[in-house]
Amino acid sequence: MRVLGIETSCDETGVAVYDSVEGLLADRLFSQVDMHARYGGVVPELASRDHIRKALPLIHEVLQAANTPLSGIDGIAYTAGPGLVGALLVGASIGRALGMSLGVPTIGVHHMEGHLLAPMLEERPPEFPFVALLVSGGHTQLVRVDGIGRYSLLGESLDDAAGEAFDKVGKMLGLEYPGGPRVAALALEGTPGLYQFPRPMTNRPGLDFSFSGLKTFVRNTLAEAAASAPVSRQDKADIAFAFEDAVVQTFIIKCRRALQQTGLKTLVIAGGVSANLALRAGLQSMVEKERAQLYYAQPRFCTDNGAMIAYAGTQRLLAGETSSLALDVKPRWPLASLPPLGQSASQ
Ligand code: KG4
Ligand code: ZN
Repeated sequence: MRVLGIETSCDETGVAVYDSVEGLLADRLFSQVDMHARYGGVVPELASRDHIRKALPLIHEVLQAANTPLSGIDGIAYTAGPGLVGALLVGASIGRALGMSLGVPTIGVHHMEGHLLAPMLEERPPEFPFVALLVSGGHTQLVRVDGIGRYSLLGESLDDAAGEAFDKVGKMLGLEYPGGPRVAALALEGTPGLYQFPRPMTNRPGLDFSFSGLKTFVRNTLAEAAASAPVSRQDKADIAFAFEDAVVQTFIIKCRRALQQTGLKTLVIAGGVSANLALRAGLQSMVEKERAQLYYAQPRFCTDNGAMIAYAGTQRLLAGETSSLALDVKPRWPLASLPPLGQSASQ
């Protein structure tokens, strides 16, 4: 089965063609970050309009790159939520219209299920069951994964998502949106051990997270530094390092706890923040001590992309699932409410 995947939940238009036998044939991405950067964050209305401009040309391009005419497509997967409602509607409308005109089934994919399954696109995919740390701009969750659609929430952020905290700290440090990769780059120049930032919620039991206190700590540290002298690039790098380190150490503690609590030996990290190299390295040394294995996608499949949607959609279409006729997008949609693979004929 050959599936066209369409991702338009936020500020990236992603498309891909995935073949259940041959694997990923092609993928294309257009990022709107330059357009949103001047506003310091995503402007939903601009995002929707740009998806409209970019989606069809990108679909043409990806079909050509996959050497597949439209008539060679057996199914269409689009992101149905969670995300910005206007942006989701663009991908959903195009996906459903294409599906109807071609007479092929369509499926609305859960964006976080897409992220969660993105490591399956790699040469050495993880095997179920595993613990997944989902860390994106909108979500921070620890999930027990027993199969596709068999998700139990172990813990989540009570306030900001990890990516959101990175982005807000980036703003405080005067970096462009999205701050995550820029904070990480600046942290490389930071001096280890100069600042000690708190590791939120690690000294009490449980697997929930909170990043808003850490964010305030960064703001206060910056204000204190600014009170005595102008804040230098080195000061900012030292603070970026301390912030990133606090986030990484927090994830190490909570992921170790989740592995021990579930007795599982496989940890998967997914979502935009899983591209962070300090996080990957920190978790890698933790899993080695736990005699466990760490899996993640290549960086371009950690952040939003069409390939993960095409992959997740293919699995559900192969199991006989299709979307109902109503054009239904879900800006809010809990991951754990998804049905196990093949257990719903329509959503
Ligand atoms: O998964 P994603 O592309 O979109 C959402 O579903 O939200 O995640 C985007 C988030 C942004 O907050 C971005 O700053 C963060 O992932 N991010 C990073 C890195 N690369 C992307 N955060 C820290 N370090 C990175 N290298
Ligand atoms: Zn995402």
